Amino acid sequence: MALERLDKILASQNIGSRKEVGLMIRKGRVTVNGAVVVRPEHKADEEQDSIAVEGRELAVSRFIYLMMNKPKGVLSASRDTRAKTVVDLVPQEWQRRGLFPAGRLDKDTEGLLILTNDGDYAHKMLSPKKKVEKIYDAVLDLPIDSQDILAFSVGVKMKDFEALPAKLSVLPPELADAKITPLQRQVRVCIHEGKFHQVKRMFMARGKTVLALRRVQIGSLKLDPNLSSGEIRQMTAKEILAVFT
Ligand code: URA
Repeated sequence: MALERLDKILASQNIGSRKEVGLMIRKGRVTVNGAVVVRPEHKADEEQDSIAVEGRELAVSRFIYLMMNKPKGVLSASRDTRAKTVVDLVPQEWQRRGLFPAGRLDKDTEGLLILTNDGDYAHKMLSPKKKVEKIYDAVLDLPIDSQDILAFSVGVKMKDFEALPAKLSVLPPELADAKITPLQRQVRVCIHEGKFHQVKRMFMARGKTVLALRRVQIGSLKLDPNLSSGEIRQMTAKEILAVFT
């Protein structure tokens, strides 16, 4: 692992903002291998060195797990020479080598997206065998009916594949936008797989077009309602596990 500035390491571990941890270091509250370090730019190796704040050793984690409320118009990719990506939106202190979105959302889809540098975690989350539930809210051009709900529940048939059974319902009125009528155009879909354009294609197979799509939940992890569009925060240990429960 490469050497990194001490203030950057501490900020990446959620000890405080870059400014706050810089102040802690200058005040002599941080040690590296037992010796007080007062320069925030001091380089340390987060895997090899023992870093302590006020005598408490940091359990530095190699992996980072971020929750993003993905905005529309941004690509779910690590880097792209032409377009802005979700990784470009990640603040400097959370940037890591190998950071990528665990599961893609289309450019025009918004909502819950997890970014991590933990390949095994992403693999487990995306594996069809794990059947992790993903919940989407969609606005359609036409209202759904009981035939659509039935078709989703047995598995929508498309040209090239048959979707696994999925749950389709009309959004409860308290979550719906009263201006979008009839209300049966605002729906919630729960799927357990993630094929390319899956939700849009399932509706297309039923003769309906998705006008807006937002992911609201993965497993039992819900999109934090306090995250506005484009905002990102570190996930808690409980949230990291919630994806699989
Ligand atoms: N299904 C889609 O069609 N698009 C997405 O972005 C996610 C699921």
